[in-house]
Amino acid sequence: MLGATGAVGRELLELLEERRFPIAELRALASARSAGTTLPWQGSSLTVQECCSEAFDGVDLVLASAGGSTSRTWAPAAVAAGAVVIDNSSAFRMDPEVPLVVPEVNPDAVWSHSGVIANPNCTTILLTLALAPLQARCPIERVVVSTYQSASGAGAQAMEELRQLSRTVLDGGTPRSSVLPHSLAFNLFLHNSPIDASGYCEEERKMIRETRKIMGLPDLRLTATCVRVPVLRAHSEMVNISFREPFPVQEARDLLAAAPGVDLIEDFEANRFPMPTDVTGRDPIAVGRIRQDCSDPTSLELWLCGDQIRKGAALNAVQIAELLLGAPSP
Ligand code: A2P
Repeated sequence: MLGATGAVGRELLELLEERRFPIAELRALASARSAGTTLPWQGSSLTVQECCSEAFDGVDLVLASAGGSTSRTWAPAAVAAGAVVIDNSSAFRMDPEVPLVVPEVNPDAVWSHSGVIANPNCTTILLTLALAPLQARCPIERVVVSTYQSASGAGAQAMEELRQLSRTVLDGGTPRSSVLPHSLAFNLFLHNSPIDASGYCEEERKMIRETRKIMGLPDLRLTATCVRVPVLRAHSEMVNISFREPFPVQEARDLLAAAPGVDLIEDFEANRFPMPTDVTGRDPIAVGRIRQDCSDPTSLELWLCGDQIRKGAALNAVQIAELLLGAPSP
């Protein structure tokens, strides 16, 4: 496991244990900074090693969650050593040779790999889980999505910064961020990834490109606005979906309630819909407030929440590994 000490790496360790993934030997790899530290594993502990090319000798599978540049450096060495790499970074996602997989949506894509399989962007995974069952019933023409993204998407240090700066504000101090560009404590800001000349940030461009690739819809019209909110580890999304023809709301509700990896949380009378706290630490995403768009007869709207570290990253990667082992798609 490359990036074992990070937020996603730690969740991967928990999931491998929880799902009894068959492992003969597990190597916990990270940077020199954490070499020699230990991580809990199967009632005992694992000693973290600094990543080096020999670290992949005899390894069948690498779960990588250490950022794009680290993956670019080490994935080729791991593949050359005979391993399959399931990479959580954006380094290879749009490479035409690399499958980009959400097991509930495009499980068969795993078999086209040449050593690397990419785990999609977290917001994209959550979005495609809701879009795919609807697309199977009626072609989607256009998607407009706004995200409300937690600190976890920026890593374990960003989560810790949110905790600390929230305490600072409660104590009457002035929060000063160093991990994220602005303090997230009692605040929100547009996603901090680089913006290009089109006015879209990298996170928004990832959502657009990756959704098209996963769903096999290269011409899908999709626009996204990504926002960071002061939530620790679950993302939310408001999604407006235009179909080729009108889509009955009840049918969408039934399809989503039956969809793999999706729970319906919807009580209009009680005004109770998915919240980040409903999905934190849980596998399925939650969808609700499915309604007709009052401005367009062929569009529906829905709200969703999903645990960014779990289904948005670690769980999806473990499910891909399970597909490789021959498990039926979820
Ligand atoms: P380390 O803890 O040694 O810095 P997160 O996204 O939660 O911040 O986690 C990033 C993960 O990637 C951590 O496990 C981190 O290890 C690891 N990492 C970062 N840079 C490197 C690198 N150059 N080589 C190996 N692992 C790295």
